[in-house]
Amino acid sequence: MAAGMLDAGRVWQAYSSLGKSTLQVVGSQGVRVQLADNRTLLDGTMGWWAALFGYRHPDIEAAMQQQLETLPHYPFYSELIHEPAVKLADRLVDITPGDMAGVVFSESGSSAIEVGMKMALQYWQLKGLSRKKRFAAPSNSFHGDTFGAMSLCGPDNDMFGRYAGVAEPALFFSPPPEGRDRPFTQDDLASVRALFESRSEEIAALVIEPLLQGLAGLRPYSCEYLAALRQLCAEYDVLFIADEVAVGFAKTGSLFACEQANVEPDILCLGKTLTAGTVSLGATVVSAKVADVTRQEPFIHGATYMANALACTAANACLDLLETGHWKNEVERISTQVKGELEACLDLPGVKHIRNIGLLFGVCGDKSLDIANFRQQAIDQGAVLRGVGNTAMLVVPLGTDPDDISQLTGTMKNLLRSAFV
Ligand SMILES: Cc1ncc(COP(=O)(O)O)c(C=O)c1O
Repeated sequence: MAAGMLDAGRVWQAYSSLGKSTLQVVGSQGVRVQLADNRTLLDGTMGWWAALFGYRHPDIEAAMQQQLETLPHYPFYSELIHEPAVKLADRLVDITPGDMAGVVFSESGSSAIEVGMKMALQYWQLKGLSRKKRFAAPSNSFHGDTFGAMSLCGPDNDMFGRYAGVAEPALFFSPPPEGRDRPFTQDDLASVRALFESRSEEIAALVIEPLLQGLAGLRPYSCEYLAALRQLCAEYDVLFIADEVAVGFAKTGSLFACEQANVEPDILCLGKTLTAGTVSLGATVVSAKVADVTRQEPFIHGATYMANALACTAANACLDLLETGHWKNEVERISTQVKGELEACLDLPGVKHIRNIGLLFGVCGDKSLDIANFRQQAIDQGAVLRGVGNTAMLVVPLGTDPDDISQLTGTMKNLLRSAFV
């Protein structure tokens, strides 16, 4: 076994086979991860879009430390309830767009999606329209790894071909036309309008990532499209579920992506940055319109670690940091620097264009990346970077030093010199 490697023969990592030996991570701080072989890597993934303030923010750690010493967890059931969850629910209802009424906590982004789907079904059943039990989604979506969430992942998403036929797939429509500034025309909605025209009586809800489809390659679309789509859902009596698991919490330059299009979802799903990259937590925020109906009967969802007190405390500490408003200048500062420095990539062979909203950057080429090779080369050059399809992604946390940003963009440029050739 080479130095710094860990024999991980008995554990599956995300999207991999059993039994790999991999580099051992022993610490993290800010934008850095520390390896057992004494190397330090700059993490250009924001810990899968979660660690908005970088790793181990002292305020979040201090709050969690205190909670750990009093009540790390207590089952969220029956007569007993704890303050971190109640406080967090109140705050989420207040800060999320629309007339929101309540929150269901769960364990991850995927489970927040499952809860949203179940809530939509309960809404229509109690309205006496139990035929409405299908879901609609763009055909290039990603919404998570559990069966309900996977059923929303489009047929183009080859990751989920293996499980086809278990959960009823969503009714798919053409993806939003790419481009944040692309002028919107009603034709852009032709496919989803045709679907609603023929089948809205069966459709409980439409699920979409607002403004940008993350794992479709950080693919942005316009506010006008989003607003028109939301309007179409209202017209055809289809609930609108916004999946802000990835794009939520300041990363797109507004606290929630829906805000930029003045869109108020019926149900909003959150995860990832909710706890700023510390522990797992999902939240499904439910509008008054939906809650006023669904509250007539218990909502059949509960899990042993639902609303974990330590996770809710981390989330409250994350909201404290967001409430200061410092993130606005930080998003501006980082975004301007990254944009300026990545522009040089446009001169590299095979590079087509750069996608960007807020802190989220993708450099797209005219062919698919060799993802494993891209990741390995990044590590060899001192960085952690992710790619999907033909897009190399860079996501930099708030508070990152300008020199570290330049190092990350420099590594990106080096890697992309030959990546699309
Ligand atoms: C848009 C979106 N929704 C849902 C999920 C699932 O979240 P989790 O990995 O926490 O289950 C992800 C994960 O990447 C995501 O990007």
